[in-house]
Amino acid sequence: MTAADQKRYLVTGGAGFIGSHMTEHMLGLGRSVTVLDNFATGKRENLDQALAAVGGDAASRLEVVEGCITNPDDVARACEGVSGIVHLAALPSVVRSVEAPVESHHHNVTGAVHVLDAARQRGLKVVYAGSSSAYGDQDTDFKHEDLREDPLSPYAASKLACELYCRSFARVYGLPIVVTRFFNVFGPRQVPDSPYSGVVAAFCFALLQGRAPRIDGDGSQSRDFTYVKDVARGVTMALEAETSGCQTVNLACAGNHSVLSLFEILRSQAGVDVEPVHGPSRTGDVMHSRAAIDRIRDLIGFEPEYTFEEGLARTFDWYRVTYA
Ligand SMILES: NC(=O)c1ccc[n+]([C@@H]2O[C@H](COP(=O)([O-])OP(=O)(O)OC[C@H]3O[C@@H](n4cnc5c(N)ncnc54)[C@H](O)[C@@H]3O)[C@@H](O)[C@H]2O)c1
Repeated sequence: MTAADQKRYLVTGGAGFIGSHMTEHMLGLGRSVTVLDNFATGKRENLDQALAAVGGDAASRLEVVEGCITNPDDVARACEGVSGIVHLAALPSVVRSVEAPVESHHHNVTGAVHVLDAARQRGLKVVYAGSSSAYGDQDTDFKHEDLREDPLSPYAASKLACELYCRSFARVYGLPIVVTRFFNVFGPRQVPDSPYSGVVAAFCFALLQGRAPRIDGDGSQSRDFTYVKDVARGVTMALEAETSGCQTVNLACAGNHSVLSLFEILRSQAGVDVEPVHGPSRTGDVMHSRAAIDRIRDLIGFEPEYTFEEGLARTFDWYRVTYA
């Protein structure tokens, strides 16, 4: 057994969509994981599925702390025996942040500062789940990390505020931090039936029920859809690589798919004959979002492994089995 095998990592928000895949990936590599989650949007079933996917002795290497990142005692409890932190816990919705900006700020920013402070006190490396929403809408084919940020929603502002804290903690306390900016992550276990659901999950769910999905705007808006297993692998690579200071990198596929093309692929997988219902564009939404990924290649050698079509096929199959 190597030293890396014996490591225990803290995954905040580990019962959520991305967090449960993060946990699954790390357990699959032989690491131990402590999850800190208040189950605001996360679910115990997500962790059950992660454990079932890994099998073997995975359950004995997973500890779950039910608590809130805004409570320093909960964070301290969750940090016991860990040698690195993946910070995912947040209220991840543009719509929700427009409705309740103070609540978003509390969980996304105040909570993150508590996590960073705990890392500072223990000298722990942090990988922070940043967001492509930091870029806003900019007239450029690829969003690259040197662009000036332009958050369009309270959610985007909260995610960016936390990035600024990451930069300052790296400078002031010498903490190694990697900010991985995610771009429209999709895959199994994403909540499909909430007003805050991601577009892939919501479309799969509607089509499996034979309903027409709702498209905000004309559907020409495009996204760099990233399969969740690529995200889990990229974040783990970032945590385990030797890095210094605060490094900010896009973690995505450099792809460009319109919401309308997403609908068409999923409609053909579902084999139903429905047309989407178009509604008004959403406040705070960006039109086009495509990542440049040279920096993450250079930093940790990350390459996406899943194509958009392959990820969608796996995702649709999961929703078919789970909800049909
Ligand atoms: N899904 C995407 O496309 C995407 C894109 C960019 C960034 N991100 C970021 O990735 C992270 C994970 O997002 P997700 O899509 O898995 O969402 P999710 O809602 O499934 O996961 C968030 C998790 O955090 C937990 N949580 C929320 N507030 C908490 C608190 N105060 N204390 C403890 N736990 C708390 C929730 O219960 C949930 O388990 C978020 O930080 C989000 O901003 C996601």
